[in-house]
Amino acid sequence: MEIIIQPTAEAATSVAARVIARLLNEKPNAVIGLATGSTPLLLYRALIDMKLDWSRVTTFNLDEYIGLPKEHPQSYYSFMWDNLFRHTNIAPENVHIPDGNAKDIPGFCAAYEQRIRDAGGIDLQVLGIGTDGHIGFNEPTSSLASRTRIKTLTPQTRQDNARFFASLDEVPTHCITMGIGTIMEARHNLMLAFGANKAHAIAEAVEGPITAINPASILQMHPDAKFCLDADAAGELKRADYYRWVYDNKPEWQHL
Ligand code: GLP
Repeated sequence: MEIIIQPTAEAATSVAARVIARLLNEKPNAVIGLATGSTPLLLYRALIDMKLDWSRVTTFNLDEYIGLPKEHPQSYYSFMWDNLFRHTNIAPENVHIPDGNAKDIPGFCAAYEQRIRDAGGIDLQVLGIGTDGHIGFNEPTSSLASRTRIKTLTPQTRQDNARFFASLDEVPTHCITMGIGTIMEARHNLMLAFGANKAHAIAEAVEGPITAINPASILQMHPDAKFCLDADAAGELKRADYYRWVYDNKPEWQHL
């Protein structure tokens, strides 16, 4: 794991944006996994400002609420088109977002996994983290080998996400999410976390045991996972000074 601690969310985002820009430069037909939530908003703004060529890029989103119409402002479909896709030259047929209104949910989930495989697998997966350590919508005790499937949101996650809805009652109770096994197959994982409310989940994920109670802790087993953190999200890391030292002393050729 590479733990990159920057003073601000903007600085941490700019490291992440450079990682993605470099990938698109090296592989214009890259397959990118994308995340929603407030955390990647700065990243999407930065990528839009970079005016990258998305014409040959394929994307797969991590998750979607079940039961919200696509056009609902809080559907992840609306989120992605409003905050990223419509500001790029991506081909709409290359965009994949789980269909939260699929009639046959298990069938849809199996087909989503197959589409990822057919696209050659995910080159880079963007991740955020829930306050309980969830990645995608893989809540605590999700199987670390899970695949794309239906999940029930925890009361904590519904509460955390209620700020985007008029009331808690409007927050869906179920979702479709890529599994932890799916996420682990991405060639590169890029986690972003900002703010003191993420510090505990990040400390457990990075320095705690690998456990389904903190799904992000599985990234300790990933061969190429980067954590781009602001100082607040890094606030409970015991070895923060060490991570800073490593980053400041990278050989020239490893600079991001
Ligand atoms: C949701 C999303 C996750 C995201 C998390 C954190 O639960 N499914 O992918 O990482 O929220 O959201 P935020 O970035 O708003 O803190």
